[in-house]
Amino acid sequence: MDVTKAVIPAAGFGTRFLPVTKAQPKEMMPVLDRPTIQYVVEEAVEAGIDDILIITGRGKQAIERHFDKSYELEEALEKDGKIDRLDRVQEIADLADIHYVRQKERDGLGDAVMYARKHVGDQPFALLLGDTIIESDTTCTESLISAAEEHESSVLSLERVPWEDVPSYGVADLGGEESTGGSFPVEDFVEKPPQEEAPSNLAITGRYVLTPEIFDRLEQTERGVGGELQLTDAIRELEDVRGVELKGDRYDIGNIPSWLQANIEMALKHDDGEMNEAVEALLQEQVE
Ligand code: G1P
Repeated sequence: MDVTKAVIPAAGFGTRFLPVTKAQPKEMMPVLDRPTIQYVVEEAVEAGIDDILIITGRGKQAIERHFDKSYELEEALEKDGKIDRLDRVQEIADLADIHYVRQKERDGLGDAVMYARKHVGDQPFALLLGDTIIESDTTCTESLISAAEEHESSVLSLERVPWEDVPSYGVADLGGEESTGGSFPVEDFVEKPPQEEAPSNLAITGRYVLTPEIFDRLEQTERGVGGELQLTDAIRELEDVRGVELKGDRYDIGNIPSWLQANIEMALKHDDGEMNEAVEALLQEQVE
């Protein structure tokens, strides 16, 4: 089993971020010097994938523009001798082969993933949600691919979340077994359960490797929570699904506290001198 393609759904509304997201996709929310979705594309590329399909929708043109060549800008930077910046701009367009398909109506994550069927074909693929940044030593997608290749099955990244947050996630049911350090079988999933009905607090983080069987399962899936076609409902019908506990930091950029946290923590972590010190000083000032 060889995973060579990645799919990034980026078609949802950014309602928790309005009004910023009124005319701008939430996936373009900047974290430090780049939009969220660039980190997601970079994660796929680091995992060895250079064929990426982004599922867009109405009002998402800024995403395409971001990954496109920008002749006027490049010319201006070159003329001004700003070679450093020119390199950074050119790198973006050279990251990967990026393809786009447009979801006609917003009808849930499951529906968005269905749009990948033609492009993906009969191959397993990585799925990375476009509004979630995951920072880890080995990229999350890479660890999922290794486990998927080893077990020839679909694999999801899972993370223990506080119990009160469980209703915001898809949650794994390990059938009474414990999770292990490597990959482990998952018996079932439930999308956004009430806290008292949740089988665990192991939440789906937004990174998956799925076998192409998912498309047939999606076709047979009825509308679920929120009246939408839920990807989790199709995943629970797959033959074989495994989980891997996330080792790293996850930032869901869909809400302001998490976005702020991403900016602060990543500014402190990414050791690039000046900014690092400036942010540290700023935080110090706040606690004094
Ligand atoms: C989606 C998935 C959910 C997953 C979550 C991770 O939900 O449906 O299973 O846990 O992403 O962010 P959403 O956040 O789109 O409501």
